[in-house]
Amino acid sequence: MDKIIVHGGATLNGSVRISGSKNSALPILAAALLTKEECIISRVPDLSDIHYMLTILSELGCEVERASGTVTVKAEKVVTNAPYDIVRKMRASVCILGPLLGREKEATVSLPGGCIIGDRPIDLHLRGFEALGAAVLVQAGNVKVLAPRLRGATINLQGKFGSTVLGTGNVMMAAVLADGTTVIDGAAEEPEVEDLANFLIKMGAKIEGAGTRRIIVEGVKELHGAEHAVIPDRIEAGTFLVAAAIIGKEVTVNRVDPRHLKALLDPLARAGFEIATTSNSVTLKTGGVRHPLKLETQPYPGFPTDMQAQLCALLATTEGISAITENVFPQRYMHVAELKRMGAHIELEGATAVITGVPKLSGAPVMASDLRASAALLLAGLRAEGTTEINRVYHIDRGYESIDDKLNSLGAQIERVKA
Ligand code: EPU
Repeated sequence: MDKIIVHGGATLNGSVRISGSKNSALPILAAALLTKEECIISRVPDLSDIHYMLTILSELGCEVERASGTVTVKAEKVVTNAPYDIVRKMRASVCILGPLLGREKEATVSLPGGCIIGDRPIDLHLRGFEALGAAVLVQAGNVKVLAPRLRGATINLQGKFGSTVLGTGNVMMAAVLADGTTVIDGAAEEPEVEDLANFLIKMGAKIEGAGTRRIIVEGVKELHGAEHAVIPDRIEAGTFLVAAAIIGKEVTVNRVDPRHLKALLDPLARAGFEIATTSNSVTLKTGGVRHPLKLETQPYPGFPTDMQAQLCALLATTEGISAITENVFPQRYMHVAELKRMGAHIELEGATAVITGVPKLSGAPVMASDLRASAALLLAGLRAEGTTEINRVYHIDRGYESIDDKLNSLGAQIERVKA
Protein backbone atom coordinates (compact mmCIF):
# COMPACT_ATOMS: atom_id res chain seq x y z
CA MET A 1 0.00 0.00 0.00
CA ASP A 2 1.29 3.47 -0.89
CA LYS A 3 2.45 5.79 1.87
CA ILE A 4 2.72 9.55 1.94
CA ILE A 5 5.67 11.16 3.68
CA VAL A 6 5.17 14.79 4.61
CA HIS A 7 8.20 16.91 5.53
CA GLY A 8 6.96 19.69 7.79
CA GLY A 9 8.11 23.28 7.71
CA ALA A 10 7.44 24.33 4.12
CA THR A 11 5.43 27.42 3.16
CA LEU A 12 2.72 27.43 0.50
CA ASN A 13 2.52 30.12 -2.12
CA GLY A 14 0.98 30.37 -5.59
CA SER A 15 -2.11 29.06 -7.30
CA VAL A 16 -3.75 25.71 -7.87
CA ARG A 17 -6.49 24.53 -10.21
CA ILE A 18 -9.39 22.71 -8.60
CA SER A 19 -10.82 19.53 -10.15
CA GLY A 20 -14.43 18.67 -10.86
CA SER A 21 -16.54 17.62 -7.90
CA LYS A 22 -16.42 13.96 -6.88
CA ASN A 23 -19.79 14.14 -5.17
CA SER A 24 -21.40 15.71 -8.24
CA ALA A 25 -19.73 13.40 -10.74
CA LEU A 26 -20.78 10.16 -9.00
CA PRO A 27 -24.58 10.59 -9.23
CA ILE A 28 -24.28 12.34 -12.60
CA LEU A 29 -22.48 9.29 -14.04
CA ALA A 30 -25.21 7.08 -12.55
CA ALA A 31 -27.85 9.31 -14.18
CA ALA A 32 -26.50 8.30 -17.61
CA LEU A 33 -28.29 4.98 -16.92
CA LEU A 34 -31.58 6.81 -17.51
CA THR A 35 -31.17 6.92 -21.30
CA LYS A 36 -30.13 4.59 -24.12
CA GLU A 37 -28.39 7.52 -25.78
CA GLU A 38 -24.82 8.67 -25.29
CA CYS A 39 -24.00 11.07 -22.44
CA ILE A 40 -20.77 13.05 -22.41
CA ILE A 41 -19.63 14.26 -19.02
CA SER A 42 -16.59 16.47 -18.68
CA ARG A 43 -14.45 17.67 -15.75
CA VAL A 44 -14.75 14.23 -14.17
CA PRO A 45 -11.93 13.96 -11.63
CA ASP A 46 -9.45 11.09 -11.82
CA LEU A 47 -10.18 9.36 -8.51
CA SER A 48 -10.59 5.81 -7.33
CA ASP A 49 -14.26 6.40 -6.38
CA ILE A 50 -14.89 7.50 -9.96
CA HIS A 51 -13.12 4.37 -11.27
CA TYR A 52 -15.43 2.24 -9.10
CA MET A 53 -18.48 3.96 -10.52
CA LEU A 54 -17.24 3.50 -14.11
CA THR A 55 -16.60 -0.19 -13.41
CA ILE A 56 -20.11 -0.58 -12.01
CA LEU A 57 -21.56 1.09 -15.11
CA SER A 58 -19.54 -1.26 -17.36
CA GLU A 59 -20.68 -4.28 -15.36
CA LEU A 60 -24.28 -3.13 -15.73
CA GLY A 61 -23.79 -3.25 -19.52
CA CYS A 62 -22.89 0.36 -20.38
CA GLU A 63 -20.25 1.27 -22.94
CA VAL A 64 -17.88 3.53 -21.02
CA GLU A 65 -14.98 5.51 -22.43
CA ARG A 66 -12.71 7.89 -20.65
CA ALA A 67 -10.36 10.38 -22.32
CA SER A 68 -8.62 12.50 -19.70
CA GLY A 69 -11.41 14.30 -17.81
CA THR A 70 -14.23 13.43 -20.22
CA VAL A 71 -16.32 10.31 -19.80
CA THR A 72 -18.74 8.99 -22.40
CA VAL A 73 -21.43 6.57 -21.21
CA LYS A 74 -23.88 4.78 -23.46
CA ALA A 75 -26.39 2.62 -21.62
CA GLU A 76 -28.15 1.03 -24.57
CA LYS A 77 -28.98 -2.13 -22.66
CA VAL A 78 -28.57 -2.58 -18.94
CA VAL A 79 -28.92 -5.30 -16.37
CA THR A 80 -30.39 -4.28 -13.03
CA ASN A 81 -28.25 -6.23 -10.62
CA ALA A 82 -25.03 -4.55 -9.49
CA PRO A 83 -22.07 -6.79 -8.64
CA TYR A 84 -21.39 -6.99 -4.90
CA ASP A 85 -17.60 -7.03 -5.19
CA ILE A 86 -17.47 -3.52 -6.62
CA VAL A 87 -20.48 -2.05 -4.90
CA ARG A 88 -19.15 -2.92 -1.45
CA LYS A 89 -16.05 -0.77 -2.06
CA MET A 90 -18.02 2.45 -2.34
CA ARG A 91 -21.12 3.51 -0.49
CA ALA A 92 -22.06 5.98 -3.23
CA SER A 93 -22.84 3.02 -5.52
CA VAL A 94 -26.27 3.19 -3.91
CA CYS A 95 -27.06 6.04 -6.31
CA ILE A 96 -27.54 3.60 -9.20
CA LEU A 97 -30.80 2.47 -7.54
CA GLY A 98 -32.81 5.57 -8.53
CA PRO A 99 -31.94 5.62 -12.24
CA LEU A 100 -32.31 1.84 -12.65
CA LEU A 101 -35.67 1.92 -10.89
CA GLY A 102 -36.73 4.86 -13.06
CA ARG A 103 -35.73 3.18 -16.31
CA GLU A 104 -36.16 -0.56 -15.71
CA LYS A 105 -38.62 -0.37 -12.77
CA GLU A 106 -36.28 -2.68 -10.90
CA ALA A 107 -32.81 -2.58 -9.28
CA THR A 108 -30.72 -4.61 -6.85
CA VAL A 109 -27.56 -3.53 -5.01
CA SER A 110 -25.88 -4.91 -1.94
CA LEU A 111 -26.97 -3.02 1.14
CA PRO A 112 -24.22 -0.66 2.29
CA GLY A 113 -22.91 -1.76 5.66
CA GLY A 114 -21.86 0.58 8.46
CA CYS A 115 -18.91 2.64 7.34
CA ILE A 116 -16.04 4.17 9.18
CA ILE A 117 -17.75 7.56 9.55
CA GLY A 118 -20.64 5.96 11.40
CA ASP A 119 -23.86 4.18 10.76
CA ARG A 120 -24.99 5.26 7.29
CA PRO A 121 -28.51 3.98 6.66
CA ILE A 122 -30.43 4.38 3.39
CA ASP A 123 -33.90 4.38 4.96
CA LEU A 124 -34.70 7.81 3.51
CA HIS A 125 -33.83 6.69 -0.05
CA LEU A 126 -36.07 3.66 0.39
CA ARG A 127 -38.88 5.74 1.90
CA GLY A 128 -38.78 7.87 -1.24
CA PHE A 129 -38.90 4.87 -3.60
CA GLU A 130 -41.81 3.38 -1.64
CA ALA A 131 -43.73 6.64 -1.91
CA LEU A 132 -43.30 6.41 -5.70
CA GLY A 133 -44.96 2.98 -5.58
CA ALA A 134 -41.93 0.67 -5.38
CA ALA A 135 -41.73 -2.40 -3.20
CA VAL A 136 -38.49 -2.70 -1.21
CA LEU A 137 -37.12 -6.14 -0.39
CA VAL A 138 -34.06 -6.76 1.75
CA GLN A 139 -32.68 -10.25 1.17
CA ALA A 140 -29.29 -11.88 1.65
CA GLY A 141 -27.54 -8.55 2.14
CA ASN A 142 -29.11 -7.04 -0.97
CA VAL A 143 -31.74 -4.40 -1.35
CA LYS A 144 -34.10 -4.84 -4.27
CA VAL A 145 -36.55 -2.16 -5.36
CA LEU A 146 -39.21 -2.88 -7.94
CA ALA A 147 -42.43 -1.37 -9.19
CA PRO A 148 -44.77 -2.28 -12.04
CA ARG A 149 -44.98 1.48 -12.59
CA LEU A 150 -43.82 4.56 -10.71
CA ARG A 151 -46.34 7.23 -9.76
CA GLY A 152 -45.53 10.77 -8.71
CA ALA A 153 -46.05 11.46 -5.00
CA THR A 154 -45.28 13.95 -2.25
CA ILE A 155 -42.26 12.77 -0.28
CA ASN A 156 -40.43 14.20 2.72
CA LEU A 157 -36.73 13.36 2.91
CA GLN A 158 -35.98 15.17 6.15
CA GLY A 159 -34.14 12.81 8.55
CA LYS A 160 -32.82 13.03 12.08
CA PHE A 161 -29.52 14.57 10.88
CA GLY A 162 -30.95 16.78 8.14
CA SER A 163 -31.81 15.79 4.62
CA THR A 164 -29.92 13.29 2.50
CA VAL A 165 -27.75 14.33 -0.42
CA LEU A 166 -27.55 11.05 -2.33
CA GLY A 167 -31.10 10.18 -1.23
CA THR A 168 -32.45 13.39 -2.79
CA GLY A 169 -30.54 12.59 -5.99
CA ASN A 170 -31.75 9.00 -6.00
CA VAL A 171 -35.42 9.88 -5.57
CA MET A 172 -35.15 12.67 -8.15
CA MET A 173 -33.60 10.21 -10.65
CA ALA A 174 -36.44 7.73 -10.14
CA ALA A 175 -39.12 10.44 -10.28
CA VAL A 176 -38.04 11.91 -13.64
CA LEU A 177 -39.53 8.89 -15.41
CA ALA A 178 -42.54 8.39 -13.08
CA ASP A 179 -46.11 9.12 -14.13
CA GLY A 180 -47.24 12.50 -12.85
CA THR A 181 -45.75 15.02 -10.45
CA THR A 182 -43.41 14.33 -7.54
CA VAL A 183 -42.83 16.87 -4.79
CA ILE A 184 -39.70 16.27 -2.70
CA ASP A 185 -39.92 18.21 0.56
CA GLY A 186 -37.00 18.37 2.96
CA ALA A 187 -34.71 18.03 -0.08
CA ALA A 188 -30.95 18.46 0.31
CA GLU A 189 -29.89 21.91 -0.95
CA GLU A 190 -26.28 20.97 -1.75
CA PRO A 191 -24.83 22.36 -5.02
CA GLU A 192 -24.19 18.75 -6.06
CA VAL A 193 -27.96 18.08 -6.06
CA GLU A 194 -28.49 21.16 -8.20
CA ASP A 195 -25.74 20.04 -10.59
CA LEU A 196 -27.38 16.63 -10.96
CA ALA A 197 -30.74 18.31 -11.62
CA ASN A 198 -29.14 20.53 -14.28
CA PHE A 199 -27.77 17.45 -16.04
CA LEU A 200 -31.17 15.71 -15.84
CA ILE A 201 -32.85 18.83 -17.27
CA LYS A 202 -30.38 18.72 -20.20
CA MET A 203 -31.49 15.09 -20.70
CA GLY A 204 -35.11 16.25 -21.02
CA ALA A 205 -36.30 16.00 -17.39
CA LYS A 206 -38.69 18.58 -15.96
CA ILE A 207 -37.38 19.68 -12.58
CA GLU A 208 -37.89 22.87 -10.59
CA GLY A 209 -36.50 24.00 -7.27
CA ALA A 210 -33.25 21.99 -7.14
CA GLY A 211 -30.96 23.73 -4.66
CA THR A 212 -33.94 24.54 -2.38
CA ARG A 213 -35.84 22.51 0.24
CA ARG A 214 -38.65 21.70 -2.23
CA ILE A 215 -38.00 20.04 -5.58
CA ILE A 216 -40.83 19.47 -8.04
CA VAL A 217 -40.40 16.83 -10.75
CA GLU A 218 -42.86 16.43 -13.59
CA GLY A 219 -42.41 12.92 -14.96
CA VAL A 220 -41.62 12.52 -18.68
CA LYS A 221 -41.84 9.43 -20.94
CA GLU A 222 -38.16 9.25 -21.77
CA LEU A 223 -34.83 11.05 -21.53
CA HIS A 224 -32.18 11.60 -24.18
CA GLY A 225 -28.38 11.91 -24.28
CA ALA A 226 -26.76 15.13 -23.06
CA GLU A 227 -23.43 16.82 -22.42
CA HIS A 228 -22.50 18.30 -19.09
CA ALA A 229 -19.46 19.73 -17.27
CA VAL A 230 -19.32 18.87 -13.56
CA ILE A 231 -19.11 21.79 -11.08
CA PRO A 232 -15.82 22.46 -9.24
CA ASP A 233 -15.13 20.45 -6.09
CA ARG A 234 -15.89 22.79 -3.19
CA ILE A 235 -14.37 20.39 -0.66
CA GLU A 236 -11.10 20.04 -2.57
CA ALA A 237 -11.00 23.85 -2.87
CA GLY A 238 -11.75 24.19 0.84
CA THR A 239 -9.02 21.72 1.73
CA PHE A 240 -6.41 23.75 -0.20
CA LEU A 241 -7.61 26.97 1.42
CA VAL A 242 -7.23 25.40 4.87
CA ALA A 243 -3.76 24.13 3.88
CA ALA A 244 -2.98 27.74 2.95
CA ALA A 245 -4.37 28.93 6.28
CA ILE A 246 -2.12 26.46 8.10
CA ILE A 247 1.20 27.08 6.35
CA GLY A 248 0.54 29.48 3.51
CA LYS A 249 1.57 32.96 2.58
CA GLU A 250 -0.79 33.68 -0.27
CA VAL A 251 -2.60 30.91 -2.13
CA THR A 252 -5.23 31.15 -4.87
CA VAL A 253 -7.60 28.33 -5.74
CA ASN A 254 -8.70 28.66 -9.37
CA ARG A 255 -11.72 27.31 -11.23
CA VAL A 256 -13.99 27.32 -8.20
CA ASP A 257 -17.43 28.73 -7.46
CA PRO A 258 -16.90 31.00 -4.42
CA ARG A 259 -20.67 30.99 -3.70
CA HIS A 260 -20.34 27.32 -2.75
CA LEU A 261 -17.52 28.14 -0.29
CA LYS A 262 -19.26 30.83 1.77
CA ALA A 263 -19.78 28.66 4.85
CA LEU A 264 -16.01 28.08 4.98
CA LEU A 265 -14.80 31.54 3.93
CA ASP A 266 -16.86 33.34 6.60
CA PRO A 267 -15.24 31.50 9.54
CA LEU A 268 -11.79 31.74 7.94
CA ALA A 269 -12.28 35.52 7.73
CA ARG A 270 -13.46 35.56 11.38
CA ALA A 271 -10.31 33.64 12.30
CA GLY A 272 -8.24 36.50 10.87
CA PHE A 273 -7.36 35.42 7.34
CA GLU A 274 -7.60 37.86 4.47
CA ILE A 275 -9.79 36.52 1.71
CA ALA A 276 -10.41 37.91 -1.78
CA THR A 277 -12.73 36.37 -4.36
CA THR A 278 -13.38 36.78 -8.08
CA SER A 279 -16.17 35.02 -9.97
CA ASN A 280 -14.08 31.84 -10.20
CA SER A 281 -11.21 32.08 -7.72
CA VAL A 282 -10.49 32.60 -4.04
CA THR A 283 -7.23 33.92 -2.60
CA LEU A 284 -6.31 33.46 1.04
CA LYS A 285 -3.56 35.54 2.63
CA THR A 286 -2.05 34.82 6.02
CA GLY A 287 -0.34 37.24 8.42
CA GLY A 288 -1.94 39.03 11.36
CA VAL A 289 -3.55 37.78 14.55
CA ARG A 290 -5.38 34.41 14.59
CA HIS A 291 -8.58 33.77 16.50
CA PRO A 292 -10.05 30.47 17.65
CA LEU A 293 -13.44 29.46 16.26
CA LYS A 294 -16.71 27.88 17.33
CA LEU A 295 -18.30 25.94 14.50
CA GLU A 296 -21.12 23.49 13.89
CA THR A 297 -21.46 21.31 10.83
CA GLN A 298 -24.83 21.52 9.12
CA PRO A 299 -26.28 20.51 5.77
CA TYR A 300 -25.68 23.09 3.00
CA PRO A 301 -25.66 26.10 3.18
CA GLY A 302 -24.21 25.42 6.64
CA PHE A 303 -20.59 24.56 7.41
CA PRO A 304 -19.88 21.22 5.64
CA THR A 305 -19.15 18.02 7.53
CA ASP A 306 -16.64 17.23 4.76
CA MET A 307 -14.47 20.15 6.04
CA GLN A 308 -14.71 19.36 9.76
CA ALA A 309 -11.54 17.23 9.99
CA GLN A 310 -9.45 19.78 8.08
CA LEU A 311 -10.65 22.57 10.42
CA CYS A 312 -9.62 20.42 13.40
CA ALA A 313 -6.11 20.37 11.90
CA LEU A 314 -6.10 24.17 11.51
CA LEU A 315 -7.50 24.91 14.97
CA ALA A 316 -5.08 22.45 16.59
CA THR A 317 -2.38 25.13 16.25
CA THR A 318 -4.57 28.23 16.62
CA GLU A 319 -4.00 29.85 20.01
CA GLY A 320 -7.06 29.73 22.29
CA ILE A 321 -9.92 27.30 22.70
CA SER A 322 -11.97 26.32 19.65
CA ALA A 323 -14.94 23.99 19.43
CA ILE A 324 -16.48 22.11 16.52
CA THR A 325 -19.78 20.25 16.81
CA GLU A 326 -20.48 17.56 14.25
CA ASN A 327 -24.24 17.47 13.59
CA VAL A 328 -24.32 15.51 10.33
CA PHE A 329 -22.20 12.45 11.20
CA PRO A 330 -21.80 12.73 15.00
CA GLN A 331 -19.18 9.95 15.08
CA ARG A 332 -16.93 11.41 12.36
CA TYR A 333 -13.88 11.97 14.57
CA MET A 334 -11.40 9.23 13.60
CA HIS A 335 -8.75 11.89 12.91
CA VAL A 336 -8.80 13.11 16.51
CA ALA A 337 -6.82 10.22 18.01
CA GLU A 338 -4.21 10.54 15.25
CA LEU A 339 -3.95 14.33 15.61
CA LYS A 340 -3.44 13.83 19.34
CA ARG A 341 -0.53 11.51 18.54
CA MET A 342 0.98 14.48 16.71
CA GLY A 343 0.65 16.63 19.83
CA ALA A 344 -2.79 18.22 19.35
CA HIS A 345 -4.92 18.90 22.43
CA ILE A 346 -8.42 17.82 21.47
CA GLU A 347 -11.07 16.48 23.80
CA LEU A 348 -14.28 14.93 22.54
CA GLU A 349 -17.41 15.81 24.48
CA GLY A 350 -20.15 13.88 22.72
CA ALA A 351 -20.28 15.22 19.18
CA THR A 352 -18.18 18.28 20.07
CA ALA A 353 -14.42 18.49 19.70
CA VAL A 354 -12.91 21.00 22.10
CA ILE A 355 -9.56 22.05 20.69
CA THR A 356 -6.94 23.89 22.72
CA GLY A 357 -4.43 25.35 20.30
CA VAL A 358 -0.79 24.34 20.77
CA PRO A 359 2.20 26.22 19.32
CA LYS A 360 3.53 23.20 17.45
CA LEU A 361 2.75 19.67 16.30
CA SER A 362 5.32 16.97 15.81
CA GLY A 363 5.55 14.54 12.91
CA ALA A 364 4.57 10.92 13.60
CA PRO A 365 3.53 7.78 11.75
CA VAL A 366 -0.26 8.00 11.43
CA MET A 367 -3.03 5.95 9.89
CA ALA A 368 -5.52 7.34 7.38
CA SER A 369 -9.04 6.14 8.20
CA ASP A 370 -11.48 7.92 5.91
CA LEU A 371 -11.08 10.40 3.11
CA ARG A 372 -11.41 13.70 4.96
CA ALA A 373 -9.67 12.39 8.09
CA SER A 374 -6.68 11.55 5.86
CA ALA A 375 -6.70 15.04 4.41
CA ALA A 376 -6.61 16.45 7.95
CA LEU A 377 -3.54 14.34 8.79
CA LEU A 378 -1.80 15.54 5.64
CA LEU A 379 -2.52 19.16 6.58
CA ALA A 380 -1.32 18.60 10.14
CA GLY A 381 1.84 16.99 8.73
CA LEU A 382 2.55 20.14 6.73
CA ARG A 383 2.54 22.13 9.96
CA ALA A 384 4.37 19.58 12.12
CA GLU A 385 8.04 19.61 13.00
CA GLY A 386 9.79 16.65 11.39
CA THR A 387 8.31 13.96 9.21
CA THR A 388 4.80 12.54 9.16
CA GLU A 389 4.24 9.18 7.52
CA ILE A 390 0.63 8.59 6.45
CA ASN A 391 -0.33 4.99 5.87
CA ARG A 392 -3.37 3.67 3.96
CA VAL A 393 -3.36 6.63 1.61
CA TYR A 394 -5.84 4.94 -0.71
CA HIS A 395 -8.41 6.81 1.39
CA ILE A 396 -7.00 10.12 0.14
CA ASP A 397 -6.92 8.91 -3.47
CA ARG A 398 -10.66 8.22 -3.28
CA GLY A 399 -11.39 11.92 -3.25
CA TYR A 400 -8.38 14.12 -4.06
CA GLU A 401 -6.87 14.18 -7.53
CA SER A 402 -3.05 14.28 -7.21
CA ILE A 403 -3.18 16.09 -3.87
CA ASP A 404 0.53 15.47 -3.27
CA ASP A 405 1.57 16.92 -6.65
CA LYS A 406 -0.78 19.88 -6.30
CA LEU A 407 0.50 20.73 -2.79
CA ASN A 408 4.10 20.28 -3.95
CA SER A 409 3.45 22.75 -6.79
CA LEU A 410 2.62 25.29 -4.04
CA GLY A 411 5.84 24.55 -2.15
CA ALA A 412 5.02 21.57 0.08
CA GLN A 413 7.47 18.71 0.48
CA ILE A 414 5.49 15.53 0.13
CA GLU A 415 6.74 12.20 -1.17
CA ARG A 416 4.66 9.25 -2.19
CA VAL A 417 6.25 5.90 -1.56
CA LYS A 418 4.80 3.29 -3.88
CA ALA A 419 4.11 -0.08 -2.32
N1 EPU B 1 -29.13 9.47 6.65
C1 EPU B 1 -30.17 8.74 7.17
N2 EPU B 1 -30.90 7.96 6.31
C2 EPU B 1 -30.66 7.92 4.97
C3 EPU B 1 -29.61 8.68 4.45
C4 EPU B 1 -28.85 9.46 5.32
O1 EPU B 1 -30.42 8.75 8.37
O2 EPU B 1 -31.37 7.23 4.25
C5 EPU B 1 -28.32 10.32 7.55
C6 EPU B 1 -26.84 9.98 7.51
O3 EPU B 1 -26.53 8.89 8.35
C7 EPU B 1 -26.22 11.29 7.95
C8 EPU B 1 -27.14 12.33 7.29
O4 EPU B 1 -28.39 11.65 7.08
O5 EPU B 1 -26.29 11.41 9.33
C9 EPU B 1 -26.64 12.92 5.99
O6 EPU B 1 -26.27 11.86 5.10
P1 EPU B 1 -26.39 11.99 3.52
O7 EPU B 1 -27.34 10.97 3.01
O8 EPU B 1 -26.66 13.41 3.15
O9 EPU B 1 -24.94 11.57 3.06
P2 EPU B 1 -24.61 10.92 1.66
O10 EPU B 1 -25.53 11.47 0.64
O11 EPU B 1 -24.50 9.47 1.78
C10 EPU B 1 -22.97 12.73 0.79
C11 EPU B 1 -21.51 12.80 0.45
C12 EPU B 1 -20.66 12.74 1.71
C13 EPU B 1 -21.07 13.91 2.62
C14 EPU B 1 -22.57 13.83 2.91
C15 EPU B 1 -23.08 14.99 3.73
C16 EPU B 1 -21.44 11.73 -1.72
C17 EPU B 1 -20.94 10.63 -2.56
N3 EPU B 1 -21.15 11.69 -0.43
O12 EPU B 1 -23.15 11.47 1.42
O13 EPU B 1 -19.32 12.93 1.29
O14 EPU B 1 -20.35 13.84 3.81
O15 EPU B 1 -23.30 13.81 1.67
O16 EPU B 1 -22.82 16.20 3.10
O17 EPU B 1 -22.04 12.66 -2.22
C18 EPU B 1 -17.00 12.73 1.39
O18 EPU B 1 -16.95 13.22 0.25
O19 EPU B 1 -15.97 12.57 2.12
C19 EPU B 1 -18.29 12.29 1.93
C20 EPU B 1 -18.42 11.45 2.93
